[in-house]
Amino acid sequence: MGKLKAGSFNPLPIAPMVLVGANVNGKPNYMTVGFVNGVNIKPSIVCISLNKNHHTPKGIIENGTFSINIPSADYVTETDYCGLVSGKTTDKSNIFTTFYGELETVPMIEEFPITCECKYIDKKVEFAMDILYFGEVHQVYANEEIIRSNKEVDIVKANPLILGIDNLYRTVGESVGQAYQNGWKYIPKERTPMPDLFSDTYQCQLIDQPAQPSLTIRFQVTAENIPQIIGQALFAITRYAGELGVSPAGAPFVAYHGMDGHKMDMEIGFTFRQRLKGKDNIQASEIPGGKYASCIHFGPYEQLGGARAVLHQWMLKNNYSGTGVSYEFYLNAPQKTPPDKLETQIVFPLR
Ligand SMILES: Cc1cc2nc3c(=O)[nH]c(=O)nc-3n(C[C@H](O)[C@H](O)[C@H](O)COP(=O)(O)O)c2cc1C
Repeated sequence: MGKLKAGSFNPLPIAPMVLVGANVNGKPNYMTVGFVNGVNIKPSIVCISLNKNHHTPKGIIENGTFSINIPSADYVTETDYCGLVSGKTTDKSNIFTTFYGELETVPMIEEFPITCECKYIDKKVEFAMDILYFGEVHQVYANEEIIRSNKEVDIVKANPLILGIDNLYRTVGESVGQAYQNGWKYIPKERTPMPDLFSDTYQCQLIDQPAQPSLTIRFQVTAENIPQIIGQALFAITRYAGELGVSPAGAPFVAYHGMDGHKMDMEIGFTFRQRLKGKDNIQASEIPGGKYASCIHFGPYEQLGGARAVLHQWMLKNNYSGTGVSYEFYLNAPQKTPPDKLETQIVFPLR
């Protein structure tokens, strides 16, 4: 395929559209912004890039706060208008109904489905025309009707606006895949054979095992909370098993049941020789009997992704298909074992 040199410009084909709000001289002012992004998960830090001559940055510096307001497509005209006129010469305080949240100095737009108030963290990067401002998200306000039962935002209902490189506003289209999951379906092309290194490192095999009764706790967690949640869950189950006077039959394990929004649906627990009763959030569960693809990873937990990929490739090569669930058994204790000596068994149930 021929490649054309298209010049030097921002090649990102789309940008989310937001209105940045700040009180300037005591009056709400809103400006349209496409240069906006998240830069840190915890604490949640966002950045916006604003031209040095605009009116809104004055309010950001004045109050040390600003808002990010996500318009729905119903407000495409008002959104564009706020990007055409400046608060220096046009009063933009009456275009929307303004409300204030916990920080009290951050004007937010009542009519928009999602708004958030941010504290300017006194960190900026200056470029020739624009200044990049960083803010910590203090609170997000979302309309009830766009929040699903699992507290996730329903992006289709929020109906946000995106700006194309062609200067057209568009709405969000169909979902075409599940993030953090679709990648597992990747099949390497013929020209990139799996390095031998992998097959040497991981002995993948087919195992057949009976059903194993277990006690587990199931959670939906974001990636950064996983280690802490695993520790707490195993502690609670061990204590409960102690109350029952029983000991686990094997190593602690985690079952990954897939993603729910950007949260991992996972079950943490131990297997036991006999079936036990659950209590509170500890449930009597079972690792089903049947055929499994299995391999052992020797080394730090951060490298488990590579082992999972190799096992998955091995399954594809042998025409095995998984159920979508995967298990990890932690064969030695991370508190007492150096990371390079950790042993983890990865197991994929087969259909
Ligand atoms: C679609 C669109 C995207 C824009 N994105 C940005 C941006 O990312 N940064 C910026 O400084 N100005 C951006 N602007 C321009 C400002 O919104 C515009 O100059 C506005 O009038 C400034 O308002 P103010 O002077 O009241 O702050 C954009 C305008 C439009 C229409």
